Amino acid sequence: MLHLDVSKTAGAVSAAEVQLLQGKAAEALRTLHAGNGKGSDFLGWLHLPTSISAADIADIKATAAKLSAGVEVVVVIGIGGSYLGAKAVIDALSHTFDALQDRSKRKSPLVLFAGQNIGEDYLFELMETLQGKSVSCIVISKSGTTTEPALAFRIIKNFMEQTYGKGEAKNRIVAVTDKARGALRTMADKEGYKTFVIPDDVGGRFSVLTPVGLLPIACAGIDVAALVQGAAEMEKCTGADVPFEKNLAAQYAAVRNALYAKGKKVEVLANFNPKLHFVAEWWKQLYGESEGKDGKGIFTASVDFTTDLHSLGQYVQDGERMLFETVLSVAKTKHQVTVPPDTENLDGLNFLAGKRVDEVNRMAELGTQLAHVDGGVPNIRIELPDLSERSLGELIYFFEKACGISGYMLGVNPFDQPGVEAYKKNMFALLEKPGYEKETAAIKARI
Ligand code: PA5
Repeated sequence: MLHLDVSKTAGAVSAAEVQLLQGKAAEALRTLHAGNGKGSDFLGWLHLPTSISAADIADIKATAAKLSAGVEVVVVIGIGGSYLGAKAVIDALSHTFDALQDRSKRKSPLVLFAGQNIGEDYLFELMETLQGKSVSCIVISKSGTTTEPALAFRIIKNFMEQTYGKGEAKNRIVAVTDKARGALRTMADKEGYKTFVIPDDVGGRFSVLTPVGLLPIACAGIDVAALVQGAAEMEKCTGADVPFEKNLAAQYAAVRNALYAKGKKVEVLANFNPKLHFVAEWWKQLYGESEGKDGKGIFTASVDFTTDLHSLGQYVQDGERMLFETVLSVAKTKHQVTVPPDTENLDGLNFLAGKRVDEVNRMAELGTQLAHVDGGVPNIRIELPDLSERSLGELIYFFEKACGISGYMLGVNPFDQPGVEAYKKNMFALLEKPGYEKETAAIKARI
């Protein structure tokens, strides 16, 4: 199972200081499970892994099979929590160069994303890519009113109706949204799309184990049952009845809060496997949106090592000491590549001949850990046994659970995101959206 090592935070926080937070972490864990803390209407994710039924999984798999049959590209439309979880799992478990693979040799279609930005060039080039290809689409929005995915869906829907006709387009589109509210629900019902419901009590960034994440993940040919199984294992291992000494989620939450109290205001999630880049993006949203409020919260950042050792590595080693680092390490790679010998040895690398590339990477990881600890950056290490559905399921639930505990320890509501509205108000006023007439002049005057 996933392994957590906090021993290299000792230079910044003593065992006694973490011990002091042990009670607070246990209390936050109890509050989560009792459902009497802030934002307790949004605790549906807490028992999600153990409550997903075989019938739910079967429906997701059957729908994914239908969306994928004879299809080259599945376009998944969504933003924030309606995007990042699926993207993280698909990138972690798919071939790095999936887009370049011969599709005739692959069982699953290529999954591409839209609606996670308002990039005109992005959309143009996506639509250009879809021309002449067999396409299906999953549109995801819990509120059903978010501008970015709605805009992208308008364009994709138009393309699909023109390409396949309205009747066939509707068979190729699935909507994941609220059971009753929002423009997407209204449209899906009117158009007759197959739909999946995002439970009322599961917020966007905690929704990867609902159809929001599971349907796109299944389309990519990934075993969603094993993913949920891994999460269910972690649910059991981090329950209210599991004491602090054994409860990895409570320990991680306690240590990061102890570091925060010591002025470590930025947590850098570092990976040594580029497949985990989007796991970090998902994690940044999960913690950043959950904790960054009321003038408080650890700022979440991420780096891909060793790539970023040649850029941000300088800052981490030597810059302002307000950082701590959490390293995501994978014990076993999927593949093996061995360094070949070279008779001329012009690059001087013959000392590595016969060694696995992963051994070089691992020594880089251990060397970096020591260097950063010596440079005053406390280090938390999370080790996954491998990159598999099961391990990622464990990791997802571990981070979600620790996030709930950590948010309560910090004293915020980890399940809302009031700050996200500010840019929307200004954007709508600038775009002269009906209903924003009063704000428009004032906002324009300030630009
Ligand atoms: O975590 C959240 O709630 C947000 O990041 C949302 O997921 C994001 O804003 C997208 O919202 P929606 O699914 O309603 O379109």
